[in-house]
Amino acid sequence: MDKYTIFPTISTSFIVISAILVAIGWNLAIKRKLDQHKKVMIAAAIAAIIFFIIYSSRTILVGNTEWGGPDGLKPYYLTFLLFHIVLATVAAVFGITTLVLGFKSRFAKHRKWGRVTSIIWFFTAITGVAVYILLYMMYPGGHTKPMIDAIFG
Ligand code: HEM
Repeated sequence: MDKYTIFPTISTSFIVISAILVAIGWNLAIKRKLDQHKKVMIAAAIAAIIFFIIYSSRTILVGNTEWGGPDGLKPYYLTFLLFHIVLATVAAVFGITTLVLGFKSRFAKHRKWGRVTSIIWFFTAITGVAVYILLYMMYPGGHTKPMIDAIFG
């Protein structure tokens, strides 16, 4: 696997791991195993942070991958990518709010936000995997300059 593929593969895996942990954590909350719920959700948040660190370092050091499929599909791909990015950004804001509400023991609100956060995070993971498949498995991706070269190169 080359340097253009290895980082997206690792970061996408972390989104999937995080979403699986959220599903497990939600189930624990429903079963009222609240100590375990807390631990598993913190692990899910850590997996999401690891995703973000790998994703942003790659954007700076290696660059983002351009669409490598047919030109006719590019606008659809870009619209889908934008949808995924918006979901991920909203999920981050909701995730932080849910965690803060949990730590402040404001559980009635936490419960409402937590449900919405979890669902948005599931869609973020599903659309993230779809972007990965479109960009690296279905079509060979094009390459762009790393941001660091674009600025200093
Ligand atoms: C981003 C991380 C988290 C998410 C997505 C999340 C999600 C949820 C969800 C969906 C529920 C409601 C379950 C249901 O009845 O359907 C819930 C309940 C609960 N969560 Fe979290 N949670 C997170 C982190 C935490 C943390 C860090 C704590 C503790 C500090 C915590 C403590 C609780 C408690 C005590 C409840 C039960 C509230 C009640 O039923 O009144 N959660 N959480």
